[in-house]
Amino acid sequence: MNVFVTGGAGYIGSVCTEELLNAGHAVTVYDNLTEGHRSAVDPRADFVLAKPETEGDILQAVRAARPDAILHFAANALVGESMTNPKKYFHNNLVNALKLADAAVECGVKKFVFSSTCATYGPPDRVPMTEDLPQRPINPYGEAKLMFEKVLIWYSQIYHLDFIAFRYFNAAGASGHFGEHHRIETHLIPNVLQVALGRKSHCEIFGTDYPTPDGTCIRDYIHIKDLAQAHMLGLHPGRSGFYNLGNGDGYSVREVISMCEKVTGRKIPTVEKPRRAGDPPRLVASAEKAIRELGWKPQFPKLEEIVATAWAWHKTHPDGYPD
Ligand code: UFG
Repeated sequence: MNVFVTGGAGYIGSVCTEELLNAGHAVTVYDNLTEGHRSAVDPRADFVLAKPETEGDILQAVRAARPDAILHFAANALVGESMTNPKKYFHNNLVNALKLADAAVECGVKKFVFSSTCATYGPPDRVPMTEDLPQRPINPYGEAKLMFEKVLIWYSQIYHLDFIAFRYFNAAGASGHFGEHHRIETHLIPNVLQVALGRKSHCEIFGTDYPTPDGTCIRDYIHIKDLAQAHMLGLHPGRSGFYNLGNGDGYSVREVISMCEKVTGRKIPTVEKPRRAGDPPRLVASAEKAIRELGWKPQFPKLEEIVATAWAWHKTHPDGYPD
């Protein structure tokens, strides 16, 4: 298949690109490199430097690549930042996504695969969370992703754009070549590993008074290669709809830090801070639907393995990607 990957220089997109190429697909990566890194683009892929602010740029790029499928990873993805700069999130994650969907329709693309998020649910009434739970986001990041999910429903009904939307829980870990490097790092596991590497003196814990057993937020961490596998399965013809991707195990911030201490063999000093705005207390997936309908089988479901692969990458890339 010929696949057009937006955000293929970013964390999740780089590993999915690698897996697509390993599976024999041809890939065009389209990325503006504001979040992504040129050296995170698999050298076997074609690369197009995106200028989405230029009228017609996305349409032109899709038309030139003539893809069978589009995988749309490109987005801003920081919950906390979306609470202080919502404009950035609605413009990039909604308006630019809409331009891409229009290009897909215009060019007759057969399948659109969208990176959605569990942040579309907001604090859930129950965990593990199934896809039919009400979606009540509590941050602009989740809201913009939900708005675009709705665009896809209408576009599929009216323009027959076939789509699949994956609601990721917390992506973590690394492949052998590609890992997590954000220019401003706010994610828990890479921040903790920076402390293990001696690059930071301590890790901050945002909120210790949540209604959870140890008072810190609970998340469901999912290995990046397992996310990539789900995308391969989603490309099969006839598959569409919304799917949660997580392991069904919730770990608190303190438990993640302890696991990082175990994996790295290093002590992680912590400092307790107030809650971070926009954080739901507990997000844990039920991925039964993906397992049942797509035949998805996570290969690295244990937090220890997930952290071990992240640690292996951070040790060999202590400064992340060179660019
Ligand atoms: N946290 C800390 N200290 C840190 C970093 C994070 O205590 O230094 C806490 C956060 O407050 C949160 C938890 O660790 O409670 C996880 O935070 P992350 O920033 O690693 O991840 P989020 O759950 O906020 O968000 C991530 C992605 C989103 C995605 C979401 C799905 O950034 O794109 O997972 O839950 F939508």
